[in-house]
Amino acid sequence: MLPDVELAEPVDALVGRLILMHLADSVTVVKELTRCVRPGGLVTFQEINISRARAIPDVPLVTTCREWICAAQREAGSNPDMGEQLAQVLWSAGLARPEVAVAVSTGGADSPAVSLIAETVRSLLPLIERGGAADARTEDIDTLRGRLLARVRAGAGDRLPVGAGRRVGAARVVRGVRRMPSAGPTHRRPEYEAGPAHR
Ligand SMILES: C[S@@+](CC[C@H](N)C(=O)[O-])C[C@H]1O[C@@H](n2cnc3c(N)ncnc32)[C@H](O)[C@@H]1O
Repeated sequence: MLPDVELAEPVDALVGRLILMHLADSVTVVKELTRCVRPGGLVTFQEINISRARAIPDVPLVTTCREWICAAQREAGSNPDMGEQLAQVLWSAGLARPEVAVAVSTGGADSPAVSLIAETVRSLLPLIERGGAADARTEDIDTLRGRLLARVRAGAGDRLPVGAGRRVGAARVVRGVRRMPSAGPTHRRPEYEAGPAHR
């Protein structure tokens, strides 16, 4: 289980996708795992912003599904908006000058987006209901995809954007290394530049 990772020698890069959102203390995990990365190595994570997902123009059923998915994530102890917090997490973990790029997937009725929404709701239904979303209890999950498709098509045709923002954050481990006396000559621990939160 993260962050308990033991490595014999430092690695070139620490890469994660859709993992920080599930961790109770993402800052500590990044901080601990960054110690396994060599100086000059890369630390990069991709995380999502679910609460920003929407149809343009608005399709209320898409918005309702988004709220259910966010409620399920919170019920499970996950953070549906880790994407927008990614820079802060990297910064708070002591990484200097983290850079974050944002990508928003778009796609209309013919894209996988509608199926993704419907199937995500299907798989999370027990959590959605446990989270208290009363309206989800009466949802006919088998017809959800068809209704979403019809409403997306009615709203804006095939080129309707439906997307949740993904953020990719990256930072390099800087400065030299300090030998760890107990770990032998090959095990080095990087000293990384502290952000303001650590000064
Ligand atoms: C949304 S999936 C992402 C999987 C994969 N990284 C990807 O992008 O396809 C989240 C993953 O995080 C794992 N996970 C959640 N909490 C964890 C923890 N404390 N330690 C290790 N893995 C964890 C889950 O088992 C699951 O495989």
